[in-house]
Amino acid sequence: MTIKAVVFDAYGTLYDVQSVANITEEAFPGYGEIITQIWRIKQLEYSWLRSLMRRYEDFSVLTRDSLIYTLRLLGLKHDDAVFARIMEKYLHLDLYPDANAALAALRGRKLAILSNGSTDMLNALVRNSGLDRVLDATISIDSKRIFKPSPDAYTLIEEKLGVKPADVLFVSSNPWDAIGAKAFGLTVAWIERVTPEAMAQACVNSDVVPPLTMFKAIRMQMDELGLEPDYRIQALSDLPKVIASHES
Ligand code: LAC
Repeated sequence: MTIKAVVFDAYGTLYDVQSVANITEEAFPGYGEIITQIWRIKQLEYSWLRSLMRRYEDFSVLTRDSLIYTLRLLGLKHDDAVFARIMEKYLHLDLYPDANAALAALRGRKLAILSNGSTDMLNALVRNSGLDRVLDATISIDSKRIFKPSPDAYTLIEEKLGVKPADVLFVSSNPWDAIGAKAFGLTVAWIERVTPEAMAQACVNSDVVPPLTMFKAIRMQMDELGLEPDYRIQALSDLPKVIASHES
C-alpha cells in the first residue's frame, strides 16, 4: 500500500523537548534537569486534563501554566525577563540531529506536522528551524479545541491534506500519541529512543533515579493500552526503510 503522506508529531519527535535544559539550568543553576522534566510532564498532563474537563486553552497557555507550576513547587523566585527567556526556547527547540536528512529522504510525499502545539507557537518553531521550506503543512489541533490523543485531533490530517487515514504514515516518539493515532486508524511508526534494556540498566541498583531517567520511564516507554504501533524504529533515519517495507 502506498504511503501518500508522512505526518509527524512535533514536540519530542522532530524537536527535542530536552533542549530546554541548558536554559533552565542557566536560569536556575542546579535545578535545570528537574525543571525540564516536571515542566514537560505537567504540560502534557494539563493537555489531557483540560480535554477531559472540556476547558480548552491552547498549548502556549498550558506551556506557561506548567512552567509556573514547576517554579512554584520548587520555590524558585523569578522575574518576568527570566520567565520569558525560558518560554522563548519553546520557539527555538533543537531539531533532532537526523531530522533534516530524514525529511529530505522522504521527499515526493506530502510531509506535515500534526501537533498539540498552538498555531502561533508551531509556526514560529517551524520557521525558526527552517522546516517551513520542507513541510507541506503544519497542522495545529487548535481548531478542534481538544488535544491528541482525541480522535477528533487526528481527523485534521484528512481534512487538511486530503489524504485518507489508510494512506498516511504517522510518526511519533510519544507512546500515548502513537497509540492514539493507531486507535484512530493510522499506520504508525513509533520511535523508541530509549530501549527497555537501557531503561532497566539505568534503574538497576539505583536508590536515587535522576529526573531524566524517571521521565524516560513514564513518557518514553510503550504504554499498556491494548494497542501496538505498526512499526518500532530507533530513529527518524529509519523511516525510508519502513516505507519501503510497507509498500512492498
Ligand atoms: C505534540 C506534543 C504534545 O503534539 O508532543 O507535538
